[in-house]
Amino acid sequence: MSKVALITGATRGIGKQIALTLAKDGYDIALNYRSENEELLNTKKEIESIGVHIFPVQGDVSNYDDCERFVKEIISKFGQIDVLVNNAGITNDMLLMRMKKEDFEKVIDTNLIGTFNVTKNVVNYMIKARKGRIINISSVVGLSGNAGQSNYAASKAGIIGFTKSLAKELASRNILVNAIAPGFITTDMTKVLKDEIKEQILNNIPLNRFGTPEDVANAVKFLASEDSSYITGQVINVDGGMVM
Ligand SMILES: NC(=O)c1ccc[n+]([C@@H]2O[C@H](COP(=O)([O-])OP(=O)(O)OC[C@H]3O[C@@H](n4cnc5c(N)ncnc54)[C@H](OP(=O)(O)O)[C@@H]3O)[C@@H](O)[C@H]2O)c1
Repeated sequence: MSKVALITGATRGIGKQIALTLAKDGYDIALNYRSENEELLNTKKEIESIGVHIFPVQGDVSNYDDCERFVKEIISKFGQIDVLVNNAGITNDMLLMRMKKEDFEKVIDTNLIGTFNVTKNVVNYMIKARKGRIINISSVVGLSGNAGQSNYAASKAGIIGFTKSLAKELASRNILVNAIAPGFITTDMTKVLKDEIKEQILNNIPLNRFGTPEDVANAVKFLASEDSSYITGQVINVDGGMVM
């Protein structure tokens, strides 16, 4: 029987590439999306053409009831979830001086509470199965901080604390929990940055290029595989050496 991977926020960007990479590795894919659009249909077609099963599940990760529902739908369909990748995330950048409480809460609700909402519902099934992999997509700014991103950096640092705590809670159940901290990856999220900001960032990347969604997906593939069976509670930076 094929293994099943659930990837949140997987219609575009890094999440989409993680879904494609794991599908090529033979996983059946439970693909969480927020809104039905052309990107979802294209991603679905691309995964189907690889020859694995794909089951798209609608849901806003910041809504607990949505997560409870779509995890149940996946279990009804596939009977198991072997790998969970908490990828869905947003930014809402501004200096704290201008930031309203809602601007802070929105980012925490999606990135950090969203990670809790999905994990909480998946973990019971992994405990019963006595195996599982949870891979949380954090960010290097959760380690280093970044001016204009106090909300986002706090959410991503929170994900690191969540990852390490869960790794300790779940190790005895053979569930491994790790985080990936991407640096600057070329997606819609970073497309909006001004060229001069991009130039400044590039100057701080020793490998002298921006990352690709494939760079992140390859690290996820490793953390989902048997090759990483002695690794838990770790944060792997995929950032060209930007933060070390
Ligand atoms: N790009 C980078 O440089 C970078 C660096 C470090 C970390 N990351 C992290 O990597 C992850 C993916 O980023 P990306 O660059 O691929 O971003 P992206 O291109 O903006 O894609 C984000 C994805 O998350 C989904 N999403 C957002 N809010 C959601 C919600 N409440 N419920 C369900 N899905 C939701 C989006 O769905 P819709 O299409 O419905 O909006 C979209 O599919 C994020 O956690 C991000 O913080 C990215």
